Amino acid sequence: MRRLGDAGMVRRDRQGQGIGRDFLRYRLRAVRNDGRAKVVRLRTIPIVHGFFAKEGFNVVNVLADGYGPGLHCVTMDLHLDVTRNPKALGQPAD
Ligand SMILES: CC(C)(COP(=O)(O)OP(=O)(O)OC[C@H]1O[C@@H](n2cnc3c(N)ncnc32)[C@H](O)[C@@H]1OP(=O)(O)O)[C@@H](O)C(=O)NCCC(=O)NCCS
Repeated sequence: MRRLGDAGMVRRDRQGQGIGRDFLRYRLRAVRNDGRAKVVRLRTIPIVHGFFAKEGFNVVNVLADGYGPGLHCVTMDLHLDVTRNPKALGQPAD
């Protein structure tokens, strides 16, 4: 497994304007264009996992208190194989 990068966080006063989605899709396009990866895996927190779910990521594990007391670590996968995941085409999901 190759490590591709760290968290992408959007400044609080710029959240909710599509920046996070654009940045995530940009990064996923780079992975697809590279061509080697079949699965993209990330770790996030429960209040953010819905953002990634909208882009086709699925929860594969929840580690209770993984980031500290009361803060669970959510592991999510995105399969880039379009036969398993039509959203993986990299097109806008909406
Ligand atoms: C999570 C984050 C990256 C989203 O970026 P953003 O620019 O605010 O989000 P966008 O405007 O691109 O939202 C895209 C879609 O995701 C949804 N969304 C955004 N944040 C969400 C969340 N926390 N949970 C569920 N859905 C979310 C939006 O409603 C939008 O959906 P829509 O297209 O149906 O309207 C950003 O809010 C952030 O950095 N938050 C800080 C928290 C953090 O810790 N992030 C990184 C952890 S790995």
